[in-house]
Amino acid sequence: MKLRVGILGATGAVGQKFVKLLDGHPWFEVTALAASERSAGKPYHLAAHWLEDTPIPPKTAQIIVQNAETDLLDCDFVFSGLDASVAGDVEEQYARAGYPVISNAKNFRMHPQVPLLIPEVNADHLALIDRQDWGSSGFIVTNPNCASVGITLALKPLYDAFGIETVMVTTLQALSGAGYPGVPSLDAVANVVPFIGGEEDKVETEPLKLLGKLSSIGVEPAQIGISAQCTRVPVIEGHLATASVKLTTSHVPLSAVLKAIASFKADSEIARLPTSPDRVLDYSPDHAFPQPRRHSQAGKGMTVSIGRVRECPVLDFKLVCLAHNTIRGAAGGALLNAELLAARGKLKHR
Ligand SMILES: NC(=O)c1ccc[n+]([C@@H]2O[C@H](COP(=O)([O-])OP(=O)(O)OC[C@H]3O[C@@H](n4cnc5c(N)ncnc54)[C@H](OP(=O)(O)O)[C@@H]3O)[C@@H](O)[C@H]2O)c1
Repeated sequence: MKLRVGILGATGAVGQKFVKLLDGHPWFEVTALAASERSAGKPYHLAAHWLEDTPIPPKTAQIIVQNAETDLLDCDFVFSGLDASVAGDVEEQYARAGYPVISNAKNFRMHPQVPLLIPEVNADHLALIDRQDWGSSGFIVTNPNCASVGITLALKPLYDAFGIETVMVTTLQALSGAGYPGVPSLDAVANVVPFIGGEEDKVETEPLKLLGKLSSIGVEPAQIGISAQCTRVPVIEGHLATASVKLTTSHVPLSAVLKAIASFKADSEIARLPTSPDRVLDYSPDHAFPQPRRHSQAGKGMTVSIGRVRECPVLDFKLVCLAHNTIRGAAGGALLNAELLAARGKLKHR
C-alpha cells in the first residue's frame, strides 16, 4: 500500500511541482492538499493557477483544498511548499501532532536538530531526526535553498578530494524561483535584478551546514569562506551559478579536478531511489555548457550540470553550474529526501 501524502502550500509553484512529480509515484500517493484560507474549500483545479505543462492529475484536481493553518491533513506525512511567513508555525504544529514534515521552506533549515539534506551530500545527517523532540513521533527534514543546492553538489567532490578554503559565487536565478506571480513583469522582462532578498545569506551559510560534519553536539559547519552575489535573470527555470574556488590542497592539477567531478557518484542506497538521476553531476567540456533552456531538465531536473571548469588567475579554479530550481532545488529534492526516509523505514502508515 502506498504511503498517503499531504501537500502544504499545494497551490504554489513548488506545491504544483510536488503534485506533478508525485503523479504515478511508486511509493507515495497524494491524498490531501492545503494552502491559505483564500484557497480552502475549493477543489484543487479551481484553487490553483496551474503552471505546469501537463494537466492536473484527475484525482488530485478534485481534492478539496484545506486550510494549512487550521486543519490537520489525513495522511501519513506532509511535504511543505508553504510561504515562509507561515511555514514555521504550521510545520511545527504538524511535527508536534506526530507527522513527518519534509519541507522546502527556509524556517527550519539552520535549526541545530533539523537535517538540511541533499542525500548525495550528507545522508548521514538524517541521524539528527532522532535528536528532535516535538513531544511526539513527528520530525522535520528540510532541503536547501534552490541556489544553494547546485553550488553544494558542484563543490562536494572538490571538498572531499582537496578541501576548499574560499568560494566566490555569482548566481543567475530563474523567475520561477520567486513563486507565482513572482517578479513584476516590468522588472523581469529584458532585465537583470541584482538583488534577491535574503538569498546571499542562504548561499553563504547553507553549503557550510550541508558539507559539515555530524558530531555528538550537532553539525560542525565546514570551514569555507563563501561570498555570494545573487541576481534574478529573465529565465523561466534553472538557476545558473558561476564560481571561483580556492582549494585547501596546493598545486592541484586541472586534470585532478575534472576527474573528481566526473567520477562523483551517489552511494548505491541513494542511486536506487525512484527520483535519483542516473548521473548526479553531468560535466561537459563544451565551451557553452551549461545553459538553463537546454540543460535544466537533465536527469528529469535532478542532475546538476557543470561546465567551463578551468584555472582561475586569482583563486585556483572556476566553474559554472546549473540546477533546476523547482525540481532539484525544491520539490524533486524534497521527494528524494522522502524516498530516503521511506527506504530507511522512517515513514510509516499512520
Ligand atoms: N520556487 C522555488 O524555486 C523555490 C525553491 C526552493 C524553496 N522554495 C520555497 O518553497 C516555498 C514555496 O515557494 P513557491 O515558489 O511555491 O511560492 P508561491 O508560489 O508563492 O506559493 C506559496 C504557497 O503558500 C501558501 N500560503 C501563502 N500564505 C499562506 C497562509 N497564510 N496560510 C497557508 N498557506 C499559505 C499559498 O497558498 P494560496 O495559493 O492559497 O495563497 C501557496 O500554496 C517558499 O517557502 C519558498 O521560499 C521555493
